[in-house]
Amino acid sequence: MGVAVVTGASTGIGKATAQRLARDPGVELVLVARREELLRKLAESLPCPATWVAVDLTAEDAPQRVRAHLEAEHGGDLHLLVNNAGAAWRGSFAETGYANVHRHMELNFDAVVRLTEALLPLLRKSAPSAIVNVASTAGRVSRARTGAYSASKFALIGWSDSLYAEEGAHGVHVGLVLPGFVRTEGFPATELREKAATRWIVSKPETVAEAIHRCGPGRKAERYVPRPYALAAALRILAPSLVRRVLSGGAAENLTTSTGNDRDRGSKPG
Ligand SMILES: NC(=O)c1ccc[n+]([C@@H]2O[C@H](COP(=O)([O-])OP(=O)(O)OC[C@H]3O[C@@H](n4cnc5c(N)ncnc54)[C@H](OP(=O)(O)O)[C@@H]3O)[C@@H](O)[C@H]2O)c1
Repeated sequence: MGVAVVTGASTGIGKATAQRLARDPGVELVLVARREELLRKLAESLPCPATWVAVDLTAEDAPQRVRAHLEAEHGGDLHLLVNNAGAAWRGSFAETGYANVHRHMELNFDAVVRLTEALLPLLRKSAPSAIVNVASTAGRVSRARTGAYSASKFALIGWSDSLYAEEGAHGVHVGLVLPGFVRTEGFPATELREKAATRWIVSKPETVAEAIHRCGPGRKAERYVPRPYALAAALRILAPSLVRRVLSGGAAENLTTSTGNDRDRGSKPG
């Protein structure tokens, strides 16, 4: 391992991933998110060299700022890019409209593509290297009030599969991680944790961090977290009418959790 960029490193899965990668010998981390104080504290707590770039990844100049930092502080080397930063705002299409689709695509898809475009030359130059894209089980199966989020993750998965096929010849592995429910600041899963019947399906950021490690340095192509969530994706292809019936029924409402954004700022865009 050499230089690794982790986006969304200030909390949750990104923070756990930085802590996991920091245990590898020879790693140098670059932590990326908006909240500088959290990045600074994390960098100081890690057992490896770590720098940070405090940036809003949807900003026009964000990709160039991360690249310039890598060139100035790490000699332009890049062995691992973990595209993890992301968010969700719940709401039906009728309530939240295109504005909600746009803000999901801007962060969960466009920002990933733009950052990868800026850093791909460094990844190729540093090969063997890897990209890990953090998608979601919601990128395989859609539920009510999560359509905009699902659309952004479906897009990320489709694009990642193509990038995998293109970049292998250049020594850049592309791994895909698809978490289910994971308790974090942005996805507290409060509704599920409150009930004994659903508490067990909520996993920890550290488990996803391990999967990210397997798909980056470990060069696996794809991991669901927890692994049995792959069944939901398989059923969506093999028994689509059954899945539609279940997810349109009342029981599915138990699986639609509110997010950190809904709690803090309300889900209506604007
Ligand atoms: N937790 C789950 O249940 C779950 C399930 C499936 C997939 N995922 C995916 O896992 C990834 C990580 O989510 P998480 O659960 O760890 O949530 P989280 O704790 O809310 O972390 C999100 C991270 O993204 C950063 N971020 C958000 N907007 C940003 C922006 N505009 N520019 C730069 N950084 C930004 C946040 O940092 P700042 O606020 O400091 O910028 C934070 O570090 C996301 O892509 C999410 O879609 C999560």
